[in-house]
Amino acid sequence: MSNCSTTGPGELAASFYADAARQHRVTITENVPLARDTWRVRFECPAIARTVVPGQFLMLRLPAGNDPLLARPLALYDTVLDAKGQPTGVDVAYLVVGKMTARLSELRAGDELDVWGPLGNGFAAEPVDHLVMVAGGIGQTPFLALGREYAGRRRYGNPPRSVVPAKAVTLCYGVRTVDYLAGEQDFAAAGVEVRVTSNDGSVGRQGLVTAEVDAVLDEAAAAGHSVRLVCCGPEPMMEAVAELAAARQVACQVSLETPMACGIGACFSCVVKVRQPEGDWDYKRTCVEGPVFDAEKIVW
Ligand SMILES: Cc1cc2nc3c(=O)[nH]c(=O)nc-3n(C[C@H](O)[C@H](O)[C@H](O)COP(=O)(O)OP(=O)(O)OC[C@H]3O[C@@H](n4cnc5c(N)ncnc54)[C@H](O)[C@@H]3O)c2cc1C
Ligand code: FES
Repeated sequence: MSNCSTTGPGELAASFYADAARQHRVTITENVPLARDTWRVRFECPAIARTVVPGQFLMLRLPAGNDPLLARPLALYDTVLDAKGQPTGVDVAYLVVGKMTARLSELRAGDELDVWGPLGNGFAAEPVDHLVMVAGGIGQTPFLALGREYAGRRRYGNPPRSVVPAKAVTLCYGVRTVDYLAGEQDFAAAGVEVRVTSNDGSVGRQGLVTAEVDAVLDEAAAAGHSVRLVCCGPEPMMEAVAELAAARQVACQVSLETPMACGIGACFSCVVKVRQPEGDWDYKRTCVEGPVFDAEKIVW
């Protein structure tokens, strides 16, 4: 008789398990620079393109060799449609920060990648008058597909999820300098209003992105619009946006970029402290219970 026991209902329950994810060997069709140290890689993968929803991510691994050994998590930037309007391709936008992203930026059309996904829970699809997306640095990547979806331009998932188009979709996008401003035209073409801030004033309003968020929230309140915030970027910036949302009583979701080893719920390397209904906190895995969480639940 075996000593093993199976996990009972409710234990280790995740809102999204990786069961639907598959591993694919894909061929790169494009790998192009978007801004300083910032690239967009495109590959054909109809199985992921048809099923992925905004806010989900993929694990990308270089198939040639074991260095780096581990795959890296990267958000869906957007899907790419074929001539018949069917999603067949996937775009991922990335900042070169270390070994994997540096090597990825050297790959060209015809090179291969190992990709598994779609992974994670994705953003809520609830209706709202004004969706305000707040990005710091490369944190803009999960918002292109979400913005396009809320602008009523594309549906995602299988079956395609229904999102009531918002009256307004805004990206408040904070960058260090103009050199790092990546994909502004992609957002504009998707029907998203883009408001940029920069640390040095080289583009947009000089200062922190939170000042721009405050201004947008004031305008939405004056228009009588319901608002929801979604946020992704460096942790101090997400914490500041979470505090701002709490102070103004606006719903806010954050997409965390916790480092991950497996991406499928097995290794527990990606845990974050999440408040429980009883008032204490417990660890949750960003890869299967996130990466999108209600901001008020995160213990920063
Ligand atoms: C769900 C999710 C989605 C993501 N989406 C994107 C995306 O769309 N585009 C993108 O460019 N990046 C994204 N990231 C972050 C990306 O996974 C890391 O930057 C990745 O580690 C880069 O791999 P690398 O080998 O180039 O660098 P590494 O060798 O892994 O790291 C290089 C340096 O960055 C630091 N570092 C690595 N990861 C993090 C982190 N999460 N937070 C703070 N410091 C870190 C390391 O300590 C090291 O100093 C995402 C992360 C998650 C969890
Ligand atoms: S990355 Fe392994 S459990 Fe989340």
